[in-house]
Amino acid sequence: MKILITGGLGFIGSHTAVELLQQGYDVVIVDNLSNSKISVLDKIQIITGKNPVFYNIDICNIELLEKVFHETKIDGVLHFAGLKAVGESVEKPLEYYFNNVVGTLVLLKCCKKYNVNKFVFSSSAAVYGDQESPIREDVEINNTLNPYGETKVMIERILEDYSKSNPMFKGAILRYFNPIGAHESGLIGEDPNGIPNNLMPYITKVAKGELPHLNIFGNDYNTIDGTGVRDYIHIYDLSKGHILAFEKLNEGVEIFNLGSGKGSSVLQLVNAFIKENKIDIPYEVVPRRAGDVAVTFADVTKAKIILGWSPQKSISDMVRDSWKYERENKITN
Ligand code: NAD
Ligand code: WQD
Repeated sequence: MKILITGGLGFIGSHTAVELLQQGYDVVIVDNLSNSKISVLDKIQIITGKNPVFYNIDICNIELLEKVFHETKIDGVLHFAGLKAVGESVEKPLEYYFNNVVGTLVLLKCCKKYNVNKFVFSSSAAVYGDQESPIREDVEINNTLNPYGETKVMIERILEDYSKSNPMFKGAILRYFNPIGAHESGLIGEDPNGIPNNLMPYITKVAKGELPHLNIFGNDYNTIDGTGVRDYIHIYDLSKGHILAFEKLNEGVEIFNLGSGKGSSVLQLVNAFIKENKIDIPYEVVPRRAGDVAVTFADVTKAKIILGWSPQKSISDMVRDSWKYERENKITN
């Protein structure tokens, strides 16, 4: 079984590639390296002892992408490639709509032409906007807060419409909450360019001494300690969810939340990091970040029942593995 992974050198794609290779799948990776490094390919090889086929191409380029489908018989697609920074999407909406939406359209055109009907898409909790938690998959999604989230809503609708026109199509839309952690080897992990926007990579930079302190965006929310609450999920559990979703694909498109189903506050995550790794994280409370909601966490009942998926890793595992990656690996990256 040969699986095409778009964005397969990125954070989530690389971990899923490792799991697939370890489970005996053949893997073809397409990535334009816009937010990843070629060295990740070597790391995947070191961890698995296998050599995935790699194409350094942009999925928006139909001639080049078609070549991949022409050269290799693809049995299914895991589609991770996309731009993902919420703030940047407000600054550069056209880039986000073009890369994410057009990229997916080009990919689906190739799938149609080459009769590839198994498709798993990386959506996001960003489609929900401000909804009451725990959030179920069947709430209305007409409330996104930024262009990034809107690209995910558009792609979800494109997949639904395409599946209605193609009875052979079997799709899964996975709405991830807040993925953190890293592979237990410490060889692959999250590697954002520049100063991180997200909480966990910011904390690891502070731990390493590359940033002086963490800014906590508000401590006046109506939460356990006033700081924002999110649903953190270990990258290992997330990648397992993809494989189960792929293996259980059915006609039509099914949507699943992938999160831990539990909320943790910023301060709870920071304190878990300090306790597990025995490193202090100095912080300052600053005003709320525009566009943030107080609380977001998932109802993951559907994934548990239909996919038989259940997250295994704890917050301690997440903060330990994130730190191990930052500490041991960044020098060689
Ligand atoms: P990432 O940036 O680490 O990985 C995405 C990869 O896609 C990168 O390697 C990048 O170089 C590649 N890419 C981007 N545009 C491309 C294009 N046009 N052609 C070829 N390659 C391209 O991001 P990630 O965290 O691994 O996220 C993967 C997917 O999951 C994204 O679609 C993202 O929107 C979604 N997602 C991520 C999170 C998160 O917090 N990390 C949460 C929810 C959803
Ligand atoms: C988490 C909490 C912040 C940084 C984003 C996207 C979402 C998905 C996951 C892609 C919040 C607080 C953060 C910092 C802080 N990505 N924080 N100081 O905003 O929940 O979700 O990533 O699909 O779509 O929106 O994640 O890690 O940025 O923030 O206090 O320096 O940490 O206010 O409460 P978020 P995050």
